[in-house]
Amino acid sequence: MTTIASLSFADDQLTIIWANGSESRLAALWLRDNCQLPCCFNDQNGQRLINITDIPQSTIIASVTRSAAKVTIRFAPDNHISEFDANWLFDNCYCQNKAFDDRGEKSKTLWMGPSAFTKLPNADYSDFCCRSATQRHALQAVAEYGFVILNNVPVKPGSVLDVISHFGFVRETNYGKLFDVQTEINPNNLAFTNLGLGGHLDNPYRNPVPGLQLLHCLENSAQGGETIIQDGFMAASILRDESAQNFNLLSKTAINFRFQNKSTDLHTLATMIELNVLNQIVTVRFNNRSIAPLTLPETSMLAYYTAYRHLAKIFERTDLQACFKLNPGQLLLFDNTRILHARKAFSSAGRRHLQGAYSDLDGLYSTLNILKSSANKS
Ligand SMILES: [Fe+2]
Repeated sequence: MTTIASLSFADDQLTIIWANGSESRLAALWLRDNCQLPCCFNDQNGQRLINITDIPQSTIIASVTRSAAKVTIRFAPDNHISEFDANWLFDNCYCQNKAFDDRGEKSKTLWMGPSAFTKLPNADYSDFCCRSATQRHALQAVAEYGFVILNNVPVKPGSVLDVISHFGFVRETNYGKLFDVQTEINPNNLAFTNLGLGGHLDNPYRNPVPGLQLLHCLENSAQGGETIIQDGFMAASILRDESAQNFNLLSKTAINFRFQNKSTDLHTLATMIELNVLNQIVTVRFNNRSIAPLTLPETSMLAYYTAYRHLAKIFERTDLQACFKLNPGQLLLFDNTRILHARKAFSSAGRRHLQGAYSDLDGLYSTLNILKSSANKS
């Protein structure tokens, strides 16, 4: 439990000195806005029940009392009384500037090729289904490293959708709820041939991009066809170290991504490297097949191509790549905003058949957060 050592207030601010020596300075308006009593806050869903316009701009603290674990404040001019749990005040103190962000690069462990791991993150699917600790570790691997391999997933068509049901929801697209990656006559996408595929992220032409991709191996008796993955956030951070100018161009210049066939026409205007408001890398869109003809000003076209080539060359560095062959029953679950995937060419003798599907990061992070808080309570 967090203990209050001393407490004082001026009109517009409450000051708490904590037993560990840290200090919280909390504005009256902020405290009133965050009243935790049922009149202002629904503790079943964590949602606020009042609007900012319900609170006078001139709100001040009129009086404060405290018990061992509670702080009670009476505000003026509306004479509203709020009660706060000391732990809540400590956890939510904004002096520490603890902006919540689980997507940006600073929340991740960036990795450089297979040497970053003694063993690639993996879990047994039966354990994943019935043991919350296994599921938590597997989903944490996706949050931290961007991927996990599930072993012993039943080798039957459609299993990929069952896997998603354990942590989130299927993101259906024009490819359907799931898609088969195997050699096809007249394919509508190069993925459905036996050609090698360079490192890419899927579907940059969608808004939002599907945050998660799953690839489940049903058969892989062909020669070749190894899967290669790499950390796009690491590659983008290398670009930033090697050329701030090229990094700025790719993170500040929006380009069009497009997919078009007889029944579908998708466009998105976005940057190849996306930063969040904290200036951290949060999404990489890299897919040579899906970049529409560039429409940049004449003066910046060559510089953009230089930056684009620089990033592409970084992606070609083999020391950044983890290469492995997916065997029947193995499923690769990865963050499609971060992890590039590629495929080596495979022989037309033998068969290679993967089933893929998309999901969203929100569902995975929500499940992970619930699993973490359950683990913390037990
Ligand atoms: Fe792909």
